[in-house]
Amino acid sequence: MSASSSKKQLSAKSITAMKGDTPIVCLAAYTTPIAKLADEHCDLILVGDSVGMVLHGLPSTQGVPVEMMVMHGQAVRRGANHAVVVVDLPFGSYESSPEQAFETAAFVMAATDCSAVKLEGGAHMAPTIEFLVERGIPVMAHVGLTPQSVKGIGGYAVQGRGDDRQRVLEDARAVQDAGAFAVVLEMVTEELAIEATKLLDIPTIGIGASNQCDGQVLVVDDMLGMFQDFKPKFVKRFANLGADAEAAIKTYANDVRSRAFPDEAHIYADKK
Ligand code: KIV
Repeated sequence: MSASSSKKQLSAKSITAMKGDTPIVCLAAYTTPIAKLADEHCDLILVGDSVGMVLHGLPSTQGVPVEMMVMHGQAVRRGANHAVVVVDLPFGSYESSPEQAFETAAFVMAATDCSAVKLEGGAHMAPTIEFLVERGIPVMAHVGLTPQSVKGIGGYAVQGRGDDRQRVLEDARAVQDAGAFAVVLEMVTEELAIEATKLLDIPTIGIGASNQCDGQVLVVDDMLGMFQDFKPKFVKRFANLGADAEAAIKTYANDVRSRAFPDEAHIYADKK
């Protein structure tokens, strides 16, 4: 496995400074081996609460505990010394008050040594973002489709179409004004992504928001093609590792049953 990058460590500030420059590369990842592979090529590694669904089989991100984020945040941080590591604050750990958000964010940052936290929500979360930023915690915001509220929204639907466009733009503006260093724009139209990217001085990081954003994020397992039966329109598969893994497991099972494995190359003999 390749080692982490020898490039200099980026910060939340350097991500903001990349606005209008080469697109910012971000991956949602959860483990040390993947972080080591991603560190050389990515500007930002997000330990997303999608980990609950992707690695732990949960039906939504609403059941993700803080401890899960800490465990995966620590794992990613061990593999990354160049990319900015951002850890998601999970559902229920920050929404009730700015003080609750500070306690959770401070705990997550101290436990994982990550550079920043991400939280979901627009204008209504702006006072919380401001509270955290004023106390030294860099915050990445997340507007448009916010998966933690998917039950309230009524499903994983494109946001900001028609009359709803102004609401998403106002959300984006509010999180910027509150001090967020970047904002994830999830599942919005290309028109909205263009407008938000022009409107804001902080970078927009798109997922399902066209190539007009300042950067892109995908979940690593999605872009590697780990799942055969899950492919939202915005995911491009850059590999087909799920199918490759299944084929390898099938060959292994056949080889074990036929005693073709282990063979001469994999056994130990007594000393002659
Ligand atoms: O949880 C996550 O992985 C995310 C990204 C997909 C933006 O929030």
